[in-house]
Amino acid sequence: MGHYGRTLQDHGNASIAVHRSTMPAVTEVLILDARQPDPAGIARAAGILKAGGLVAFPTETVYGLGAHALDAGAVTRLFAAKGRPAADPLIVHVHHVDALAALTTGVPSTATALATRFWPGPLTMVLHRSGVVPGEVTAGLDTVAIRVPAHPIAHALITASAVPIAAPSANLFSRPSPTRAEHVLQDLDGRIDLVIDGGPTTVGVESTVIDLTGSIPTILRPGAVTLEMIRTVLPDARLGEHPPGEPSRGMKSPGLLTRHYSPRAPLTLYEGSSDRAIARMAADAGAAIARGQRVGVVAADEDEFPYSTALLIVRIGPESESSTLAANLYSALRTLDAAAVDMIFARTFREPSGLTVAVHDRLRRAAAGQVVRV
Ligand code: TXA
Ligand code: MG
Repeated sequence: MGHYGRTLQDHGNASIAVHRSTMPAVTEVLILDARQPDPAGIARAAGILKAGGLVAFPTETVYGLGAHALDAGAVTRLFAAKGRPAADPLIVHVHHVDALAALTTGVPSTATALATRFWPGPLTMVLHRSGVVPGEVTAGLDTVAIRVPAHPIAHALITASAVPIAAPSANLFSRPSPTRAEHVLQDLDGRIDLVIDGGPTTVGVESTVIDLTGSIPTILRPGAVTLEMIRTVLPDARLGEHPPGEPSRGMKSPGLLTRHYSPRAPLTLYEGSSDRAIARMAADAGAAIARGQRVGVVAADEDEFPYSTALLIVRIGPESESSTLAANLYSALRTLDAAAVDMIFARTFREPSGLTVAVHDRLRRAAAGQVVRV
């Protein structure tokens, strides 16, 4: 059973006013069961979306900020609420692969094959867009990114809305993506109509984005559907060349800006063997602390730092469990930001396989070029 965790102050005026030109003053929180969301709550949220309002909701990856994808006004309000540059295109969320036909100029066999294997799930496909999709959604590109999320709340909400839902991650532009409803409120309270609180998300990093418009299927953003998994369906798929720190000119995916996933404090990434990285982090931290600075560290459960070093350590899981590291990464960055550290140190983890590829990708972007190779 869902219930309202926090309601509008002015309940006499509870019909959510949409098609407004100003931002909503109060963001309502609707708590729903992640496995069996209350249909009445879903219907209310769907009504807000259909009327052009903004609703944040959990997906299996991160929380998304939804807007009616075919309503250019709603999409414009979504960009404003996030402070997102209009040049950064959005992912359109649909409830079923059948919805691809109307949104694209044609569904290639590669898309059908991936959808059969991985949808619903954390995979986004870039295809040629049809005229139905407003240019606001795709930032003027002739392609559109589409995904069918697996989370029961996301799935129920999109189905009940009966329209495609544009949904970027529900954070302010350049902040870490939200993996809990409270992260959404940290960034967007008072800027959106509603957030559905369905508890923490399970994957923790954004969906894999794969471009299917060229001759070779190319991963633009690594995620939980890994290259190895995709190659079981499309053997020639490859990881796109996209080293963080490269200039954005001519980028295939304009949203993949280097400083896309950043905490407020500058993050330094230590790349190399665990032992050497930890020793170097401890030494650098000791020096910074001696200068009077507060240092936060994103660490694996087993990382041992010298007793004397006054570090704020946030542990995100065992080094061998890439799915746990991914699930806790963004929350750790937000925790360190809330603690107002002056700098954050993080390291790469053992084998870059499975979800570790996505974790390293996000850490490199958060580091924005501040990498120490040990
Ligand atoms: O897991 C996710 O994908 C989450 C949840 C909410 O679904 N959404 C998400 O959206 O991460 P966002 O907007 O934060 O990231 C979308 C990414 C950006 O890097 C954007 O540039 C890329 O997808 N993208 C969107 N449309 C594209 C297009 N037509 N061509 C290439 N890249 C595109
Ligand atoms: Mg995002």
